[in-house]
Amino acid sequence: MKMPDMKQARKRTNNNINYTKYDSNLKFGKNKKYFVRTYGCQMNEHDSEKIKGMLNDCGFIETQSAENADIVILNTCAIRENAHDKVFGYLGVLKHIKDTINKDLLIGICGCMSQEEVVVNEIKNKYKYIDFVCGTHNLDNLLSIIKTKMDTKKNQIEVLSYEGDVVEGIPVSRDSKYSAWVDIIYGCDKFCTYCIVPYTRGMQRSRKKEDILEEIKTLKEKGYLEVTLLGQNVNAYGKDLYDNYNLANLLSDVSDIGIPRIRFVTSHPWDFTEEMVDVIASRENVMPYIHLPLQSGSNKILKLMNRRYTKEDYLKLYDSIRTKVKNASITTDIIVGFPGESEEDFMETLDVVNKCKYDGAFTFAFSPRENTPAALMKETVSEEDKMDRLHRLNEIVNKYSNEANKRLEGQIVKCLVTSLSDKDKNKVCGYTENMKLVNIEGPSDLIGNIVKVKITDAKSFSLDGIYVKD
Ligand code: SAH
Ligand code: SF4
Ligand code: F3S
Repeated sequence: MKMPDMKQARKRTNNNINYTKYDSNLKFGKNKKYFVRTYGCQMNEHDSEKIKGMLNDCGFIETQSAENADIVILNTCAIRENAHDKVFGYLGVLKHIKDTINKDLLIGICGCMSQEEVVVNEIKNKYKYIDFVCGTHNLDNLLSIIKTKMDTKKNQIEVLSYEGDVVEGIPVSRDSKYSAWVDIIYGCDKFCTYCIVPYTRGMQRSRKKEDILEEIKTLKEKGYLEVTLLGQNVNAYGKDLYDNYNLANLLSDVSDIGIPRIRFVTSHPWDFTEEMVDVIASRENVMPYIHLPLQSGSNKILKLMNRRYTKEDYLKLYDSIRTKVKNASITTDIIVGFPGESEEDFMETLDVVNKCKYDGAFTFAFSPRENTPAALMKETVSEEDKMDRLHRLNEIVNKYSNEANKRLEGQIVKCLVTSLSDKDKNKVCGYTENMKLVNIEGPSDLIGNIVKVKITDAKSFSLDGIYVKD
């Protein structure tokens, strides 16, 4: 058994990272079904594709319901308290299934909650019906952890609090045939004071550029039309590995492969260079969509958050992107109610929102996370004030995102059509270059193509459009 250790996690270095190849030929899953449920960010979505890939490779078959499964894996997120609550709520449902329908059901926890000491202690002592816990740094060992549980009947907890290897060649079962996630950098070294990610995902480790480019070439050969380069801070790509190769260089090399659409998430403003802005502006297949988390507009709060930029730095970068990248769509993340945030600080945040007029924003109330510096700061904003600020912020954010959508009415845009529309099965849906969701009147054989669409109506969170023949 290896338990997580948050103190050790804080002291990690990335000096001893090994680059290795996935190596497993376990095949014990025949006639067994699995169900994977995913919480959290795009990196977790992609990790779930790896979990599914490994299980498929081992002979398991996917099912869409926990009731039918022999094994259920929750790929968890630890970013805010409510992410925890969702997982523990669902565990209650699984316990009920195990008690009433299938006493042999295996329940496993992967993802960021498995790296948290308090969570895993609680699981060990109180949640004995959870059969195994696998950390984020040894995901490639998942099959052998499951096998040991099956063979010994003993609960398994295998979590590393030092850095794991960068493992290439893990089988991936992708959810989409057209749009693919591609990891470029794992972990994060920024240590924003509120954030648990550096503890759950470790220090930044870039994948080798050759491995990334090879993966993307293969995706293109398979007919993929879009790749999204993934990392908690993609702008730091290469810093831990190369003297002279960064995200701008990688974007140019990926662009040269000729895949029609390239995206990347998430960007930290501090590492965002003019060179990167220029590449985005000059390469047609690098999409004009940038997620640029602000967090706060107050310099005092930004400092307490350890964000390493000021409101003025942020606005300068924002203006440069707006000036150079034609029709760019810019979205952001904002936290309200950070310890010490006064009404004036909050007004500074609203001021930036009013200047930037974002296409969209994810807004959050501050949630203290285990062992992070901000969790030790005295909370000064009441729950009521946090909710009030969130509400006021959302009103303004929604106003600008509606306006941005309205501006598209009547325009002809390019959409990558990915599936039938959730809302109306007689329609299809897809994403514009700016990452806006469009429900499209058009035949289902548009799926898997980039087509022209005339926008007919702008809703708050999506657009309606009609297919336009070339
Ligand atoms: N790597 C990304 C953010 C990943 S987490 C970046 O640096 O921008 C996604 C968002 O969750 C963050 O941008 C932040 O707005 C929010 N978040 C993270 N920790 C939080 C906390 N403790 N309380 C509230 N929101 C938080
Ligand atoms: Fe968290 Fe900051 Fe790293 Fe983003 S940059 S993952 S907010 S520590
Ligand atoms: Fe959540 Fe971990 Fe992603 S904490 S946001 S799943 S990196």
